[in-house]
Amino acid sequence: MRNLTPFAKAFAVALGVSALLPGTRGEATPAAVAGDPEHGGALVEARCAACHGPDGNGGQATVPRLAGQDFVYLYRQLLAFKHGVRASPVMEAIASAMSERDMRDASAFLAGQARRGGQAGDAGLEAEGRTLFLQGSTDGRVPACAGCHDASQGWFAGGMRGMPGMRGAGGMPMMRMSGRNGPRLLGQRAAYVQQRLRSFAHGTPAAGPMSAVAASMSARQMRAVTAYIAAHP
Ligand code: HEC
Ligand code: HEC
Repeated sequence: MRNLTPFAKAFAVALGVSALLPGTRGEATPAAVAGDPEHGGALVEARCAACHGPDGNGGQATVPRLAGQDFVYLYRQLLAFKHGVRASPVMEAIASAMSERDMRDASAFLAGQARRGGQAGDAGLEAEGRTLFLQGSTDGRVPACAGCHDASQGWFAGGMRGMPGMRGAGGMPMMRMSGRNGPRLLGQRAAYVQQRLRSFAHGTPAAGPMSAVAASMSARQMRAVTAYIAAHP
C-alpha cells in the first residue's frame, strides 16, 4: 500500500469529525451500540421498506442497498442524517423522527440481511474496475479501495490497524467497523456509488478520507470501479 500515508492523515481528520456526532462519543465498544433486530425488522417494514425494500435490498437506482451493511456504519449514517452532517432531505426527515434506539434496532436488523443483486455488465470495464478496487491505479494516485473496504473478502488481511492516526484519545480504537474502516461496497448500486463518489469529490460531506480518494479519480475510473462493485455482491 505504497501511498497510504496521506490517507492516514485524512483519517485523523475524519475521526475528529465523527467524534463530534452526538451519541457516538461515549459509546466506545460495539456492545454499547448493539440493537434489537426483531424490533428493527418491524420498524424497517413500517418506515423504510417503501424505498429500501423489506430486507434493505430494494429500491431505485440511487437508493443504496442496506442489506448486509456494517452495523456501526448504518447507525452512524442515521445519526449523521439526523444532525445534518450528511445532507439528504429525504433521509434527514426520516432519521429525525427516529430515536437512537430505533436507529440501533433498524441497523441491527439490516446488517443481518443477506445482500442480493449484482448484474454483470461491460466485462472490460469491470476488469479495469477490479484492478483499481484491489490494487489502486498504476500511477499510484488512486489507492486500492480494498485497503479500507470489504475486508471480509480476506484480501487485505494485513490491515491498516497499526497505522498512525487510527486511534482516538486514550488509545481507544475508534474504528469499530468489521471491515477496514470503510463500509461494505460490493454489491452496492452503480448509480448510487457514482453519486456518492461525485459528491465526495466536491467535498460533501467535508473532510474524511473519501474526499481525497474521490478527488483523485477520473470519471472513467469512477465508472469502472462502480461497474465492478455493482456486479460483485
Ligand atoms: C422516501 C424514501 C426513503 C425512505 C422511506 C427511507 N430511505 Fe433511507 N435513503 C433514501 C435515499 C434516497 C438515500 C440516499 C441518500 C443520499 O445519499 O443522497 C437513503 C440512504 C440511507 C442510508 C445511507 C446508506 C449508505 O450506504 O450510506 C441509510 C443508513 C438509510 N437510508 C436508512 C434508512 C432507514 C433505516 C429507513 C427507515 C427508518 C429509511 N432509510 C427510509 C431513501 C429513503
Ligand atoms: C483510506 C481508507 C479508504 C480508501 C482507500 C477508500 N475508502 Fe471509501 N470510504 C472510507 C470510509 C472511512 C468511508 C465512510 C465514510 C463515512 O463514514 O461517511 C468510505 C465511504 C465510501 C463510500 C460511501 C458508501 C455508501 O454506502 O454510501 C463509497 C461509495 C466509497 N467509500 C468508495 C470508495 C472507492 C470506490 C474507493 C477506491 C477507489 C475507496 N472508497 C477507497 C475509506 C476509504
